[in-house]
Amino acid sequence: MKQRVKNARALEGEIYPPSDKSISHRAVILNSVANGNARIVNFSQAGDCSATVACLQALGVKIEPCVGGELLVQGAGKEGLNEPEDVLNAENSATTMRILTGLLAAQSFLSVVTGDRSLRSRPMGRVIKPLRLMGARIWGRHDDTRAPLVIQGGQLHGIHYQLPVASAQLKSALLLAGLFSRGDTIIQEPMPSRDHTERLLNAMGAEIKVSGDTITLSPSSLDAIDLTIPGDISSAALWLVAGAVHHQARIRLLSTGINPTRSGILDVLRLMGADLTVSNERVLSGEPVADLEVRSSSLTGVEIGGELIPRLIDEIPLVALAASVAHGKTVVKDAEELRVKETDRISATVKELSKMGADAKELPDGMIIYGGKKLHGASCDSHGDHRLAMMLGVAALIADGETEIDKSEAADISYPTFWDDLERLTAG
Ligand code: S3P
Repeated sequence: MKQRVKNARALEGEIYPPSDKSISHRAVILNSVANGNARIVNFSQAGDCSATVACLQALGVKIEPCVGGELLVQGAGKEGLNEPEDVLNAENSATTMRILTGLLAAQSFLSVVTGDRSLRSRPMGRVIKPLRLMGARIWGRHDDTRAPLVIQGGQLHGIHYQLPVASAQLKSALLLAGLFSRGDTIIQEPMPSRDHTERLLNAMGAEIKVSGDTITLSPSSLDAIDLTIPGDISSAALWLVAGAVHHQARIRLLSTGINPTRSGILDVLRLMGADLTVSNERVLSGEPVADLEVRSSSLTGVEIGGELIPRLIDEIPLVALAASVAHGKTVVKDAEELRVKETDRISATVKELSKMGADAKELPDGMIIYGGKKLHGASCDSHGDHRLAMMLGVAALIADGETEIDKSEAADISYPTFWDDLERLTAG
């Protein structure tokens, strides 16, 4: 589908960003192997989370979607999953594939997991390698580095493992496997990555300790818990950047997750000089949330890298957009992980923003953007990547004329109502 978006006169309104995708995956996966029933309120309607639900249903878990985004999960307990009759399909979702691989490696049956073309090209060796050290039997295409994956589950044992990349998907896969393993699983992270799995495991009664960069999990049974999922800061970030770069904007984002392992975009926007306020801070189902407000701002370029990167990894295309119109130069470093996302997001971001008049160059691990450019409408392509599709939609709001975004339906992967919300914010 091609979406056409015109320059917006003003951006005004209030939005509840869609339910957090990362927390939704974990809420349904962990409750599926817990004892008891759980009601998950505001479960994500995103394509990625539907893939997780379908996989769990194929493993025999009773999950009932209800009106208004509620999900009822009948926990199957630790021994309750069944061998799936067919290949499990994680579709576009690496979170589904990687976390489920950890879970399936510890079951007493065989499973095969595949995904769409993008997911089948993404690195899976990072999960297979440590799971094999735990005793797992897993094979994959391309010398055991790509899906489809064949997983012959069995009894695992804990390991002490230093993660080679700050990946919450990898960390969570090992924690899922560790729940079922003999002995402790000890994981060290090179830098903090999103900690939703640790928070939920703790809330559900697992024996888990986090001390500095080290997580220690003992084999545990989980108790099902009811949860309300916060709004997704990665989706809210679209409107934060839209509001900051538009000359006449005021946008409020209600009930948005501000977990410190995810809120790097707030830090970067503040560093760039954005007019951003955070209010009504509270805790929702063990996760910090707040209402955010952004107004038109005059931004300046920044240099970012190191520990900040995992805290805003999915928002870097938006940082690039903000940098394109900010005063001065922006440098993004240490972000080589972007090359193995749904697309090579370094190359795709630079390519598409350049079509609109941005002055951006690729670095092996990031990009350099010379700001102060006036963007103009162009014919752009999402490359089938949801984050790219939506970033380009936001860019179009400040570009002269009209922008066409090809494969705009990719937004459904994380934010199915994105194009409607865009229209609503521009209507005022
Ligand atoms: C996610 C972790 C990140 C992130 C992805 C969601 C998660 O990926 O980019 O969108 O829910 O655990 P990595 O674990 O590959 O860094």
